[in-house]
Amino acid sequence: MTADEIRAHIDPMRHEFAESRSLVLPALKFAQTEKGHLDRDDLAAVADAVGLTSAYVESVASFYDRLYLKPTGKRIVSVCVTLSCLLRGSDELLRRIEEREGLPHGVGTTDDGELTVQEAQCLGYCDRAPCVQVDVDETMGPLSADDVERLLDDLRAGDRPERLWR
Ligand code: FES
Repeated sequence: MTADEIRAHIDPMRHEFAESRSLVLPALKFAQTEKGHLDRDDLAAVADAVGLTSAYVESVASFYDRLYLKPTGKRIVSVCVTLSCLLRGSDELLRRIEEREGLPHGVGTTDDGELTVQEAQCLGYCDRAPCVQVDVDETMGPLSADDVERLLDDLRAGDRPERLWR
């Protein structure tokens, strides 16, 4: 993504922040929507758009686990492993994903590059444990291991979203 595209996204919100540093996160999140991850050019473009160094921008990007510095799958599936979900069987969901996709401990990117599965801490859906989130905007539960298999099938069959918000 170019610095101009990022500037066009963050300019309308500049007045909301006293310091340009505060624009780094929204700029990174937006830059990531194009490919689903951030490469060196994206980090440089964000640095240019917010007026900070690439090193500073990279330090922010490497801190947050929802910002990806390596290629990911078309969709990201986050399995909650915090207490409520764990007690209600999230380890069983990961075991099924491991068996089905061949991912060690159920996490990683599938061989076909379609899906990235990761563990997540509490997703705020404890009353519907065990739960799973797809990208950042769909959280669902309670899910059985069979439900998760169906979900993976559906995600594979679906189109790549126009913008990859993670
Ligand atoms: S513990 Fe899983 S959503 Fe809260």
